[in-house]
Amino acid sequence: MVNRGLKWKNSCIIASIIAVWVISSFIGGFLIYKNANDGLEYPIIPRPLHVITNSGFFEVTSEFFISVDNSSEKLKETGDYLAEKLRYSMGREIEIKTIPTTFLNGTLQLELNLSEDKLGNEGYNLVINESIILITAQNPKGVFYGIQTLLQLFPPSIGKLNGLIKEDKILLPCLQIRDQPRFSYRGMHLDVARHFFPVSFIKKYLDLLALYKYNTFHWHLTDDQGWRVEIKNYSKLTEIGAYRMEGHGNIYGGYYTQDEIRDILEYAEKRYITIIPEIEMPGHCMAVLAAYPELSCTGGPYSVPTKWGIYEDVYCAGNDEVFEFLETVLLEVIELFPSKYIHIGGDECPKARWELCPKCQARIMNESLQNESELQSYFISQISTFLQAHNRSIIGWNEIIEGGLAENATVMAWNSWDAAIAAVRLNHTVIMTPTEHCYFDYYQGDPLTEPKAIGGYIPLSKVYSFEPIPAELNSEEAKYILGAQGNLWTEYIETPDHIEYMCVPRMSALAEVLWTEQSLKSWNHFKIRLFEHFRLLDSLEVNYSRSSLFYL
Ligand code: ACM
Ligand code: ZN
Repeated sequence: MVNRGLKWKNSCIIASIIAVWVISSFIGGFLIYKNANDGLEYPIIPRPLHVITNSGFFEVTSEFFISVDNSSEKLKETGDYLAEKLRYSMGREIEIKTIPTTFLNGTLQLELNLSEDKLGNEGYNLVINESIILITAQNPKGVFYGIQTLLQLFPPSIGKLNGLIKEDKILLPCLQIRDQPRFSYRGMHLDVARHFFPVSFIKKYLDLLALYKYNTFHWHLTDDQGWRVEIKNYSKLTEIGAYRMEGHGNIYGGYYTQDEIRDILEYAEKRYITIIPEIEMPGHCMAVLAAYPELSCTGGPYSVPTKWGIYEDVYCAGNDEVFEFLETVLLEVIELFPSKYIHIGGDECPKARWELCPKCQARIMNESLQNESELQSYFISQISTFLQAHNRSIIGWNEIIEGGLAENATVMAWNSWDAAIAAVRLNHTVIMTPTEHCYFDYYQGDPLTEPKAIGGYIPLSKVYSFEPIPAELNSEEAKYILGAQGNLWTEYIETPDHIEYMCVPRMSALAEVLWTEQSLKSWNHFKIRLFEHFRLLDSLEVNYSRSSLFYL
């Protein structure tokens, strides 16, 4: 009976989905027809700032090549990136010529133009007319974003190996786009500690970030259930901390070697993506304590846990060896990662062990601290000072504000808008990742028909409706909000396919929140473009959620 009831419910849901799909496709088609001159007919995500549609097409013929302004090595590298993408789908070599600025018919020209300063350092100008495609920007990064827009104007078969060979003609619409982002920090996070994902998938994830013009990958490399980065000075971090014993004696784990990390960093750099590593402290460190129990308050012993949640055993804040350990680890981390920011976690650190630990209590006394919250603040400040001495700055989850914010710290606000506002009013920069809009491990549809998730409910429309600037802030204060980020915690996500399912298209919607001017955002138009854009995701073999459009 229960099963039959469920089946009936599922059939109803499927029937409603099909009905809504058909109706909205019809409305979508009508709207595209109605708005044939405002750029909305192109399935570009995130929506560009200014689009002027012209008549006619540029045809990509067998003579087509890319010409790159010879003033910049980085631009040449970006030309190579584009040539490689086109080679993949066109099934032939695409020549790149480095020539001084001239207009050559039938070519795609990438050019730096310092006078494009109004577009900022990530903006670009894309012109397609019948004889030439021209992308200009002040900075190679802007050219890269122009390329992302251009790629979305190709037939969607561009995503497939040799896909474009099958097209009769490759036609690109004549138009002009001037574009630049709303926010400077546009991030996606991935937890590789709860479950581990191979290098090949991290690269696919970075490709998705690039497609949507994200510029930051927040890589959550350590947590209770696993340490995932090779540290030469502390080999037990990976020998012991990277593996856990699951049911039936199965060993689960893995880690990235420093060589693999360098390879991923190079891949990201070609896509203008900064990777911010996260090394969690003072809590969420059971994997470390399993390897080095002397860094805890009680001395252990511990094993790498298999259950999710928050553990009371954390680094001992009264033990100087903890700081020596963390500084040695961080020195290797900053040697590897060039990012200005290092994320040091700071969330969900229980104080139970510190309350009973003689060393922690002695630290509170000697440093004239009021309580354990101030001890946490002391901990974070020590690390922040160390990193600042090496020209880096910390980002921490919003709990780092409790007990006093370390100088120069950037706050990542996840469970408290009040903390975001308070940090801004203390003149600290803030990145918004609120659980109401940005937690892509939450359900995106009916839990009865969705794969098991951690809980919550964030349908696509909820992501799209997100406004990162808290309403309480005035325009001067709003400048401290650097941008926002989608988070993907992987307690209930074990495979790359499942990651894609949870992230796409929610990260497509967040990309538009972050890039597109507020006045140009429209849920209805986004849905129309997304429906078309699904064809590109199909050819890229992204396992996106097809039903995501239909939950409100
Ligand atoms: C968090 O979700 N614990 C930052
Ligand atoms: Zn202690």
